[in-house]
This record gives sequence, structure tokens and C-alpha cells, in this order.
Amino acid sequence: MKLGLNTAMIPADGAAGTAARCLEGGGLVAFPTETVYGLGADATNARAVARLYEAKGRPSFNPLIAHVSDLKAAREIARFDDKSLRLAETFWPGPLTLVLPKASGCPVSDLATAGLETIAVRIPAHPAARDILRAFGKPVVAPSANISGHVSPTTAAHVMGDLAGRIDLIVDGGPVSVGVESTIVGCFETPLLLRPGGLPREDIEQVLGEKLARMPEEAGTTDAQPLSPGMLASHYAPRTPVRLNARELEAGEALLAFGPHIIPGSERASVMNLSEAGDLVEAAANLFSYLRELDAGGSRAIAVMPVPHDGLGEAINDRLQRAAVPRN
Ligand code: TXA
Ligand code: MG
Repeated sequence: MKLGLNTAMIPADGAAGTAARCLEGGGLVAFPTETVYGLGADATNARAVARLYEAKGRPSFNPLIAHVSDLKAAREIARFDDKSLRLAETFWPGPLTLVLPKASGCPVSDLATAGLETIAVRIPAHPAARDILRAFGKPVVAPSANISGHVSPTTAAHVMGDLAGRIDLIVDGGPVSVGVESTIVGCFETPLLLRPGGLPREDIEQVLGEKLARMPEEAGTTDAQPLSPGMLASHYAPRTPVRLNARELEAGEALLAFGPHIIPGSERASVMNLSEAGDLVEAAANLFSYLRELDAGGSRAIAVMPVPHDGLGEAINDRLQRAAVPRN
């Protein structure tokens, strides 16, 4: 993304049409939810999602929350069972996010869910957020609208302070009411409290009629990365071994390429190029779907060409390194 964008700020009243058009064009729109301001992008547009990670300066691709306007839209992207439906009907719209199995044919990009089979879904209660979601008509991924590592914004001015010149539009709906992020519940066999937040756990437990389990705390675990990879498969990992920084392709390997110059040995191999032009935003947008495709191709290993470490390259390399960790 070219930083130095002209970031417009408009009042929330009557902003929905403008915001929806901006999202439709692949733009980044900050808007108020009742918890914190979110930075929205079209969840079905991998390129827009890649720009979002870039604008936040996230050093890794954490999966994002898909925001929708109603339960019907939620059911198009996620599968509900009796328990999760009860939570949705009781607490939505509101400060609760449910992690659910992805629905088949879910149009949300693999980048937004970081390649996982699950998806985080929320119907926010803020009228401005709901108007935008209704006007747009598709799911919107929205992490908190701050630079990675900064505190979550509760006013439009906080958003401007962090993201001016990096995003297209800020919808100003005044200070938010809740002020902390949504509570995240993983709807697994045992329901898990993945992140405490704006909805008290007791309220959720009362509706479920059971206690929420809590992920054990780990050294270095932050709220942005609440799960350890081994425990919940919170990170997508290919089954095929991954070999990084390949300068030459070995027999039986598939190639995940980057840039215009393909390495020797790949003439008869299956090759997917993250970005022929060497564009890191395009590469990020393609990363998870290409890894999946090569993983399904039955090669002995996936060799990966070096990816530069600047801009989104840091997050791409973080993900590739995790994918390359040997597993049994
Ligand atoms: O209140 C909120 O939830 C705000 C507003 C804007 O809606 N959004 C927000 O998003 O806090 P973010 O990206 O800052 O936090 C999303 C959290 C991350 O910790 C991420 O790891 C987790 O949700 N998450 C998303 N999808 C997940 C999944 N499939 N499985 C487990 N955790 C997931
Ligand atoms: Mg955040």
C-alpha cells in the first residue's frame, strides 16, 4: 500500500453509503462499534485484507473477526449448533464474538481466517456499525483500529492519531460505550473463553448452563494471540514439509515462488507464484490459498523462495516459518 493516503473523516450520521462504497472498492474504513473502533475491510477481498494487515503494521497474520449485520448473514459464513445459536440469539447484537466452524462455501478470504477451518463472527450493536454492515451487505473483517501494539481506540481522534495517511476513511460516531474488546468464546466440544471482554463470562455461563474453560496462560501470550498453536490448531499448517529460502528446486518438490525470476529445477514441478511482480500485498493476499493448494498436490515437500522482510514481508515470513516447523 502507498502510505500517505488522504484519510477522510465523516460524521456517522448518513455515512453508511459512503463507507459501503469505499469498502466495495477495496478501501479501509474505520468505524465505531460499541466495544472499540474497528478497522474494516471487505472480508471476501483478500487484497483488501492484506492492505489491512499492512496498515496496522501487524508482524503476523492473526485471524480476524468477521462482522455481519444479522444472524442470517452469520449463518452464511459459520455453522451454528444449539449452544452457539442460543448464545447468538441471547447476546447479539453485542460485545460477544463466537469462534465457529466455517460454513461450506464461506466467501471470507483464507487470509482473513489465517487459513483456519474456524471463523470468528460478531454482530456489533453500535447503530453506525450496523448501518454500514447493512449497506455493504457482505461480511467486514475489523480488528481494532490501531497500529499493532498500541491500545485500542475508543474515539475517532484516537484512530486518526494512529492511522492517518494509512487508511481511507474514518466514520466518527463519538466515544464508544463499552471501551474494551468483545469477549471471545470458542464454540468447541468444551466451550472456551478465548478472550475476556465486554460481556461478562458469568452471563455466558448462565445461558450455557456450564462453565467456560479458560486457555492456560502461557509466557509471552498476548491478547492479540490468545492460543498456543499446538492446543487448538489455531494456526494453519500444511501437512507437506516446507523448506524455506530455496535457491534451487529438488526432485519431487513443489514450488511456492516469489518475484519474476523462478529458481532452477522447477520446469516440470507444480509452481505457484505469490507475486510475479514482487508485490508483497499481492503475495500476502495469495499466501494461504496457495499454500493450501500446494499442500493438496501430493508433492514430497514445498520449497519456498525467499521473500523480502520489509512491509508485509515480515508477516509473510512469520507465517512461512511456522509452516516450516517440523511436525510428526
Ligand atoms: O471488540 C472487538 O472484538 C473488536 C471490534 C472492532 O469488533 N475487534 C477486535 O479484533 O478486537 P482483533 O483483531 O483486535 O482481535 C481479534 C481476536 C484475535 O485475538 C484473534 O486471534 C482472535 O480474535 N480470533 C479471530 N479468529 C479466530 C479463530 N478462528 N480462532 C481463534 N481466535 C480467533
Ligand atoms: Mg486488537
